[in-house]
Amino acid sequence: MEFAREPVLTSALGQLSPTSAKPWRKISELRFKRVQASFKRFRKESKSKSQLMRRRTIAGNWKMYKTAQQTAVFFEQFNPLIEGVGNCEIVIFPVSINIPTAVQATEETAIQIGAQNLFWAREGAYTGETSGEMLHAVGATWVLVGHSERRQYFNESDTDALRKTQAAIEAGLMPIVCVGERLDDHKAGKAGDVLIRQFAGGIAGLTEEQFAKIVVAYEPVWAIGTGQTATPQIASQAHSLIRSEAEKRFGREAAQQLRILYGGSVKPDNIEALIRDPEIDGALVGGASLDPQSFAKIVKAA
Ligand code: PGA
Repeated sequence: MEFAREPVLTSALGQLSPTSAKPWRKISELRFKRVQASFKRFRKESKSKSQLMRRRTIAGNWKMYKTAQQTAVFFEQFNPLIEGVGNCEIVIFPVSINIPTAVQATEETAIQIGAQNLFWAREGAYTGETSGEMLHAVGATWVLVGHSERRQYFNESDTDALRKTQAAIEAGLMPIVCVGERLDDHKAGKAGDVLIRQFAGGIAGLTEEQFAKIVVAYEPVWAIGTGQTATPQIASQAHSLIRSEAEKRFGREAAQQLRILYGGSVKPDNIEALIRDPEIDGALVGGASLDPQSFAKIVKAA
């Protein structure tokens, strides 16, 4: 069951085109060229296997950890560990204020940098908020949307997630839209209902063109930061369900091209079993992404 994946990858690259953002323009151009080169390599490798697969992505969500200095130290240690590794896309989501430090520290690498949140307006009287355009201007190329901690502590709804997803695409950022059920829903066997509801309330509101520019992360809330990873089977079933919802709304080809990452207590010792499942296109890693050694192990195993 192989499908041409090229359009989504092409559009992802389209997202990364440098803009006129001043101080970071050179960095954006460099980064764009590097990503383009790695994309070409990937296509060649995929074609040589006479197939085009969904590109694997390993993302590190640092949450509210690390100062600017600690951010720089991480990359000093991490960059050499993943030199020459081209099996997957690597994206790190530091605290917003440390994005410029992270962008500078990864200048010579294929590592991409994202923000953990954005606001949907381009600018205005929204104290404490940051727009997609502003994040892009300091070199971010990805952004997390609707993470369960945003939903839990900041009351973000599916509608908020939709607006933020649209704003991210508009700003040239690749959104990772997070969905996932809480422990009580999991115990009550309602995970599927929750995922269908979250999909309908958020992602389904995108246009087909916008849908081609997102990545989804399935993150069961009961698995986040608990050490209790979903089994590959549970994750796989959830991913299939999300893909089938996507197929109903956006068609088979678009659904097959959608990358779906798994998140929730991913560690060096469970990544291999998860990534072996054809439904799991990568991982969104929290705790284990804070340590250069453990994150490098995850990246290499993907
Ligand atoms: P965790 O976090 O890997 O620490 O469980 C995952 C996430 O919140 O994205």
